[in-house]
Amino acid sequence: MKQIEIQGETKRSTIMIGECLKNLSNYIPSQDVVLITDETVSRYYQKDFPEFRAITIGTGERIKTLDTAGIIYQELLDMDAQRSTFIVGIGGGIVCDITGFVASTFLRGVRFGFVSSTLLSQVDASVGGKNGVNFKGFKNMVGVFNQPEFVICDLNLLKTLPERELLSGFAEVVKHAVIEDRDLFAFIENHAAKALALDQTVLERFVHDSVVIKSAVVNRDEKEKGERRKLNFGHTFGHAIEKTTGIPHGEAVSLGMVLAASLSVRKQLLSEKEFHRITRLLENLKLPTVLEYDKKEVMAALKKDKKREGDHIHFVLINGIGKSVITEISIQELTWMIDSR
Ligand SMILES: NC(=O)c1ccc[n+]([C@@H]2O[C@H](COP(=O)([O-])OP(=O)(O)OC[C@H]3O[C@@H](n4cnc5c(N)ncnc54)[C@H](O)[C@@H]3O)[C@@H](O)[C@H]2O)c1
Ligand SMILES: [Zn+2]
Repeated sequence: MKQIEIQGETKRSTIMIGECLKNLSNYIPSQDVVLITDETVSRYYQKDFPEFRAITIGTGERIKTLDTAGIIYQELLDMDAQRSTFIVGIGGGIVCDITGFVASTFLRGVRFGFVSSTLLSQVDASVGGKNGVNFKGFKNMVGVFNQPEFVICDLNLLKTLPERELLSGFAEVVKHAVIEDRDLFAFIENHAAKALALDQTVLERFVHDSVVIKSAVVNRDEKEKGERRKLNFGHTFGHAIEKTTGIPHGEAVSLGMVLAASLSVRKQLLSEKEFHRITRLLENLKLPTVLEYDKKEVMAALKKDKKREGDHIHFVLINGIGKSVITEISIQELTWMIDSR
């Protein structure tokens, strides 16, 4: 097991990579604990849950709402939950985001932790203290910054994860390598096949290095005033493509990273050779690098980006693999760029 400490503004969080769901009891009180999970995770893993009351929610982005939070508050009240109650979210990013939000707001905040069960939540969602729900179709519109006391990243749980969900996690790992860590990038290049075969040692390095990179960036900029924006590499176009085509987040981010890398080449920050290393790596991880989509619709979605300021947008480019720069790019330039591809 590898352990990483994250110091948030108010709280410390311990991320344990390679720890097991079966050992969860070692990290929580012996009584007054409530578990929150989803139907799928419950079906596979309830047998390994400690014997506490569990609240089970449905699956899918559509249930990540205030209504679902309301249902959970009601269940907590019915269970007579108190300020002293400890809540554990066991699941992917959706369960963790809702659990963090509910635990941070119920009775003005109770203690909480996560067992992260998807690669995406291990490398991204459970690090950084962002918790929230969607509102009227807008993603993560309502939420809080608050760190869980611990996150268990159990790599064994990934064996039951559908491949497409695994690939979404890989896209975020590649993102972390591209923006901050050339060595990790080379490691992924050399171990892509093993990663697809769920080799535990390879996955442990992916999760560990991703958590180190994301937590270092977050530690320097917890509330996303500047540097944290780097983590949006590939996400400006990615979100817009995800919204308009409905393809999974990781696949859209893969396409977004290709577009951002190509813009970096145009601005003479990235060599053609490194651009091809990036696209080849994504392909080796079975992620898409080209897709037909309606460019007008994608640009319309992009104009609604929360990060837009007037006719400019904060955009992350790369200055060679492993180095990123935050720039302001005009919507017009992004339109030219997407039209010319
Ligand atoms: N808070 C943050 O900083 C942050 C960062 C990135 C993403 N997110 C959020 O995370 C969410 C996406 O997370 P996700 O990709 O983990 O999705 P998810 O939670 O929906 O999980 C994906 C699917 O896999 C199933 N599943 C989970 N664990 C499983 C397992 N071990 N075996 C088999 N099936 C399993 C789930 O039931 C679900 O159907 C989004 O809502 C996104 O906004 C948050
Ligand atoms: Zn993402």
